[in-house]
Amino acid sequence: MKLIKAIIRKDKLGDVLKALYRTEVRGLTVTDVRGHGGETEVVETYRGTTVKMELTEKVMLDIGVSDHFVEPTIEAILGAARTGEVGDGKIFVLPVEQVVRIRTAEVDTAAVTPVA
Ligand SMILES: Nc1ncnc2c1ncn2[C@@H]1O[C@H](COP(=O)(O)OP(=O)(O)OP(=O)(O)O)[C@@H](O)[C@H]1O
Ligand SMILES: [Mg+2]
Repeated sequence: MKLIKAIIRKDKLGDVLKALYRTEVRGLTVTDVRGHGGETEVVETYRGTTVKMELTEKVMLDIGVSDHFVEPTIEAILGAARTGEVGDGKIFVLPVEQVVRIRTAEVDTAAVTPVA
């Protein structure tokens, strides 16, 4: 199992959710975040110029999936979140040790994908 953490543009959230739904990805968590993706702003000060590390508002998706869902999930996010401009975001894939569905006490692969 993997945890896919995707940091995307706020205005792409709807499209990404649609694409994930079409890919049959169901369980996910959405969080409003602020982050820095390398883009800096040069600010004029009385001593000259300084570089400001800008924080921009983004949305982070946390998606727990079984291994065979990793590639389709990434493809869905790329297809829906990409504009080609800097700041489109980033996807991290982390190993997951255990997943437990609280209602049934099911664990691991049985727990990541919802029962239809
Ligand atoms: N190395 C990183 N670690 C953690 N979060 C990151 C990292 N890089 C980017 N992010 C997060 O992703 C958001 C979007 O980053 P961004 O799209 O600018 O990435 P990038 O790698 O600089 O790509 P681009 O070249 O398209 O700008 C950032 O605001 C930040 O929240
Ligand atoms: Mg960047």
